[in-house]
Order: sequence, then C-alpha cells, then structure tokens
Amino acid sequence: MSATAQTRATHVTPEAILQLGLAFWGSKTLLSAVELGVFSELSGGPLAQDELAVRLGLHPRSSRDFLDALVALGMLEREDGRYANTAATELFLDRAKPSYLGGLLEMANARLYPFWGRLTEALRTGEPQNESRTGDDFFGALYADPERLRQFLRAMTGLSTGAAMGIAATFPFDRYETVLDLGCAEGGLLVQLAQRHTHLSGTGFDLPAVKEPFEEYVRTMGLDDRLQFVAGDFFDDPLPSADVVTLGHILHDWGREEKLALLRRAYDAVPDGGAVIVFEAIIDDDRRANAFGLLMSLNMLIETPGGSDYTAADCQGWMREVGFSETYAEHLVGPDSMVVGIK
Ligand SMILES: C[S@@+](CC[C@H](N)C(=O)[O-])C[C@H]1O[C@@H](n2cnc3c(N)ncnc32)[C@H](O)[C@@H]1O
Repeated sequence: MSATAQTRATHVTPEAILQLGLAFWGSKTLLSAVELGVFSELSGGPLAQDELAVRLGLHPRSSRDFLDALVALGMLEREDGRYANTAATELFLDRAKPSYLGGLLEMANARLYPFWGRLTEALRTGEPQNESRTGDDFFGALYADPERLRQFLRAMTGLSTGAAMGIAATFPFDRYETVLDLGCAEGGLLVQLAQRHTHLSGTGFDLPAVKEPFEEYVRTMGLDDRLQFVAGDFFDDPLPSADVVTLGHILHDWGREEKLALLRRAYDAVPDGGAVIVFEAIIDDDRRANAFGLLMSLNMLIETPGGSDYTAADCQGWMREVGFSETYAEHLVGPDSMVVGIK
C-alpha cells in the first residue's frame, strides 16, 4: 500500500456502513411503537415505565430497553423516570388527533416491512412482491373497508401537506381560476390551495369510494362551497376541464405508457396557457442525491407491475412529448419537487 493510501485508510471507518446496514433496527422499533400505540397512550401525559409497560402489554424484559431506545432515537422524552411524547410524536402519532400520520406507518409495518424482505427477489425478477404475489388484493380490501380507507387517505394528506403548502406558496395561482386534482385522495392539496388563494375553486377527481371521505374533509375545513368531487377512473372517464391540473404521487405508480396517457389527458383538460403540475419525490437529474426518491422507486418495484420514480428531466421530456410548450422544475420541501408544464 502506498503511503497516501495508508494515510487515507487510517481515516476510513466502517461507521456509516454499519449504521446504514442496521438502520432497520431503529425503523422497526418506531413501527412497533406505533403498532403498540405508545404515542397514543402517552397523549394523556407522562407515565412511569411500569405503568406504561402494563398498558402496552410489554414483557418486563423488553420494556426498559424499548422505551429508552425510543428516547435515544428522538421519539420520546424521559424526565425523572417518566416517559413523554416529543412535540412531533404528540402531534403526528396520537391516533386520536386529526393530524395522525401513523396510518402510513401502520401500513409500512404491516405490509412494506415484510415485502421489503423480498427486495432481492424483486431486483432479480422485476416482479412486485406485495399481495399480488399471493393473489390477494390490498387496494380492493382497502377500498371495501371505509375505516381503513379513511385512514389511508388521511395518511396521504399528511404525506403531501408540506409539498402542497410549497405549491400553494410558489405557483402563480393569481393567473388562474380553477384547479383539477387527479387522484385527489381526501383533498389535502386542494384544501391548501383554496385556503391560500381565496379566488380559486377546485375539483377533486378520484375513484367513487373516495367521494365521502373527500366531502367530509372538505366540509370540516369549511371549503365545500369552492371544492367539489367528481368520481371516475382517470384513464377511461371524461375529465372535467380546469385551468390547472395537478398530479401528486400518481405518475410513479405507472409505467411509461400510462404516465404518457395521464399527461396527455391532463394536457387535454387545460386550455392554452393552462398548466399541469406533477409533484412527488422527483429524483435529481444526476440520480445520486435524492436517496428517498430512489428508494421510493424501489418501493414502486415492490408494489406495482410497472411503476417507477423519475427525474425532472424525464418528466419534462414526457411533457414536451405530449405537447407542452414550456416546462420547468422547482424544489418544494424535503425530497419533493414539482414539474410544471405550460400548454
Ligand atoms: C398515492 S395516492 C395520492 C394521493 C394524493 N394525490 C397525494 O399526493 O397525496 C393515489 C390516489 O390515486 C387514486 N387512484 C388510483 N387509481 C385511480 C384511477 N384509476 N382513477 C382515479 N383515481 C385513482 C387513489 O384512489 C389515490 O387516492
């Protein structure tokens, strides 16, 4: 080994490799805490270890390490031997609060965690590794159970709120009157847009089972006079026209042909000068920085027959292909960006 290589080697440590390789320890600890209802149990105030262990049904051997690991991971606080939620876990992980984000983590725990155990098989075969492997239908079951559907849609709102606020703040909505959100879930984006831009009216378009949760959420937010729901299949049914069409976390579910079909349909729904906004964890053009976007794409490998995430350059290319005359990309928040096409 040369002297330079030797000097470099003495500064090289395995820490990052080990931390990443065992990162699932921390992740699964949080997912189990959500499953057990740790944060909901603590929403009434701090509890001592014994009391909390009894309420959660924890074995005496596990409780101290489990709860202290959550403290070390920044998910709980501990003072004078009593455990309490942090500000974030109190707001987002108490099941009784409308801001509860745990639906997403419950799904990650029950479904994605075991499915990701078959990542190597997905990498080798290119085949999804979720319920479709055994002929079960997760979305069919989800859409047949109103309570689970509501929780899933609420989790979508939580996931998209930061990006929705970013879009509301940065896109020039003062030039437009109407918005159509394709695959709107319970209407999280439209609510953010309507709250910030009081001249806007919007339509949420999604599968029929989503109508009731959408209308209830929008009514709760006091926006039912400006936001309405249209039920349908965004591949086959006629789409309402609007000045701006939005697609949030939609394109990555599908392969190239379906992505193009959806962009073409969105293009047809807006007038000349109208805009289409695509947003999700868009991968950086160099495909090396947005790890979350790249891992999301592997998640699509596990979850869908042909879906994948993509870069802003990819999306702008598809937009040009379907006819948009101008396109641009803008970072929103965290891993999320938007790509805009102007007709
Ligand atoms: C991943 S969620 C995204 C929700 C929301 N746009 C967001 O960004 O938070 C996908 C949405 O697309 C809807 N969807 C899936 N297939 C659809 C179809 N064929 N027609 C209309 N909506 C569909 C689902 O019901 C769901 O609400």
